[in-house]
Amino acid sequence: MSPIWHPFTQHGLNEPIPLIDRAEGACLYDAEGNRWIDAISSWWVTTHGHAHPRIMAAIRAQTEKLDQLIFAGWTHEPAESLAAELVRITPDPLTRVFFSDSGSTSVEVALKMALGYWANIGEARERILVLEHSYHGDTIGAMSVGERGVFNRPYAPLLFDVSTIPFPAEGREQQTLDALESACADKPAAFIVEPLILGAGGMLIYPAWVLAEMRAICARHGVLFIADEVMTGWGRTGTRFACDQAGIIPDILCLSKGLTGGAVPLAVTLCAEPIFAAHWSADRSRTFYHSSSYTANPIACAAAVANLAIWRDEPVQDRIDALAAAQEAHLAMLTSDPRVADPRRLGTIAAFDLVARDGGYLSALAPHLIAFYRERGVLLRPLGNSVYVMPPYCITPAELAQVWNAIGTSVEAAA
Ligand SMILES: Cc1ncc(COP(=O)(O)O)c(C=O)c1O
Repeated sequence: MSPIWHPFTQHGLNEPIPLIDRAEGACLYDAEGNRWIDAISSWWVTTHGHAHPRIMAAIRAQTEKLDQLIFAGWTHEPAESLAAELVRITPDPLTRVFFSDSGSTSVEVALKMALGYWANIGEARERILVLEHSYHGDTIGAMSVGERGVFNRPYAPLLFDVSTIPFPAEGREQQTLDALESACADKPAAFIVEPLILGAGGMLIYPAWVLAEMRAICARHGVLFIADEVMTGWGRTGTRFACDQAGIIPDILCLSKGLTGGAVPLAVTLCAEPIFAAHWSADRSRTFYHSSSYTANPIACAAAVANLAIWRDEPVQDRIDALAAAQEAHLAMLTSDPRVADPRRLGTIAAFDLVARDGGYLSALAPHLIAFYRERGVLLRPLGNSVYVMPPYCITPAELAQVWNAIGTSVEAAA
């Protein structure tokens, strides 16, 4: 028996845990040659495909030169190139890049930047506004700004208090905007959002104009606007960043997952100059005291530099557009099925809810569906009764058809 305690895995269910030997493109293989199509990009990270040759080559080359370097007071070329390129491809007001290792830590950094900003300019602002149903990660701060529920109930005593703005469900957008307007009047420090789509909350989509309005309200009240693009970034929503579709620029931007093409862990938190400037001082007590041992690991940075080169040199946007169109066509086959509710798509992400007696993340359907898909050579991990497909952009039409065939059969079987 393996001693490994897996994440988000209930070992008491005794479900098989496939042992994967290698991966290529959109597929995973075990040592016997069994194949699974990775239809959720291995938890939303793999963008161009597994083991992309250019990213693998960049990692190999970097391992020959510099493996790891303390990043407090020292620097290296892959981090410098990456930071310069990130500043170049994001809107002008985002001038500073802070490195960390995961989506959760990029969110922790964002929250600490926001509170540090207000503390350093001498204004007492501490409260964080959050959007209902959000997910920002599993560290204590990230959980605090996420939806309270099954993921974090035992830790509730440790989570800090936030103000929750209702999700802008269709027809209730004005309610969201009004709630935000009135919460902003109390001078909170920041508002953190997943732009356009809430991932772990169930692939809940809201329109770009609402995102733009929310950003405008925060700007009017001087509330820092944090865009958590950990999931939405790097093309998932159809554009490189979801904020692009709303024409907005956040004060703080969190990026991870597809930052390295999904090959190795890395995250960044970008911020506008006033936030950096508020920490800039000859006074050491105003230093931004955040770090982890592997901050800006050179090998991870080299992978990210290669990812950005792929975005520059290859027709990534064409692949995204083609995948989005293919997802739309497959989803359309289910739209009139009475067993399917709320079919929805944003960019390359397609989702729907299976009509179930018990909805929500703990729906009894989920473990059955996961096993059903696994037996059909497809890696899907529905969020309760919400089934979604978020593949790497290199998935072939035949592979995508196999994914949707398995989904079609599961709709029959679930009924
Ligand atoms: C929007 C969002 N923020 C943060 C995170 C946390 O990222 P990580 O799992 O890399 O810590 C996730 C993970 O899925 C996410 O979807």
